[in-house]
Amino acid sequence: MELRDGLGRRFNYLRLSITDACNFRCAYCLPGGWCPAPGADAPLSIDEIRRLVVAFATLGVEKVRLTGGEPTLRRDLAEIVAAISGVPGIRRVGITTNGFGLSRLAPALRDAGLAFVNVSVDSLDPERFRAVTGKPLLERVLRGVEGALAAGFGTVKVNAVLLRGLDRAEFDRFVEWTERRPIAVRFIELMPTGCDSRFFAAHHVPVAWVAAELERRGWFARDRAPTDGPAIEYMRAGHAGSVGYIAPSTAGFCAACNRLRVSSRGALKLCLFGDRDVSLRSWLASDAHAGDLAGVLARLVQSKPAAHRLGAGCHGTTRSLAAIGG
Ligand code: 5AD
Ligand code: SF4
Repeated sequence: MELRDGLGRRFNYLRLSITDACNFRCAYCLPGGWCPAPGADAPLSIDEIRRLVVAFATLGVEKVRLTGGEPTLRRDLAEIVAAISGVPGIRRVGITTNGFGLSRLAPALRDAGLAFVNVSVDSLDPERFRAVTGKPLLERVLRGVEGALAAGFGTVKVNAVLLRGLDRAEFDRFVEWTERRPIAVRFIELMPTGCDSRFFAAHHVPVAWVAAELERRGWFARDRAPTDGPAIEYMRAGHAGSVGYIAPSTAGFCAACNRLRVSSRGALKLCLFGDRDVSLRSWLASDAHAGDLAGVLARLVQSKPAAHRLGAGCHGTTRSLAAIGG
């Protein structure tokens, strides 16, 4: 079985948030820090997660990324990874993390079957890193990236949200970092969620700036395969890693969408910037109910919107990406 929508897009990739808690306070996401919502449901249990992933795998989903908030704040993360990796049909399980606990956790996560890691590193300047994330922890996060490489993750993807204030000297540091280390740096266009419109107006930089800087330095864009994700990657002879960007606001971005999202409390989000969240939780309570879930998902996906409407100022129900992990 395949999960396709009415526009022919095929979904083989699930992004699953396992907690909305986070210990950082990124200026564009949780500027005031995370607070537990009073009366909120508990996040999905391992059993609920397994049932959910089994249903998606039945429909041809092969890749699962665990996100947060900060997924490493869940003490049972390695068990979750092991449970999902063992679901027939699931080929790759990864996480997106802020890197806080990564140097300690990387070997155990690797042993549990984790296949890939994305680490957010918005700045390589310690002071700017502190200003953006609210934490003076650049060194620690960089140790996390090294810990992941040492644990055997072949490449580590590094996400940097592109914010005004990143100058050429700092951009050069990112470029130099990729010379010797197998790191795929991706500058992510700031999205107008989680921050007020003044922050967005003051900090948004078009990602064309990244392309221009790379081309000025003699980098070339890698040919793209139809199955590639949304990142445009640039390479340079002699560099172990790559540098690129992700621009959700560019034309055609949504046409190649291959992913679905589920929140830490089990709500299906058909589009990151959509306004229809559908709770799947009633199907997750027991194996008996979960049998119907694949059919429910296949139907729901039919109503996935063709594209986001960020250009028209609509951000949907995603107030902060901490709730859904980007
Ligand atoms: N714009 C762009 N990226 C964001 N992220 C979180 N909020 C935003 C936003 N408003 C990114 C983080 C991280 C991932 C979890 O989502 O930097 O890489
Ligand atoms: Fe936490 Fe990630 Fe949001 Fe930063 S972007 S506050 S690390 S959830």
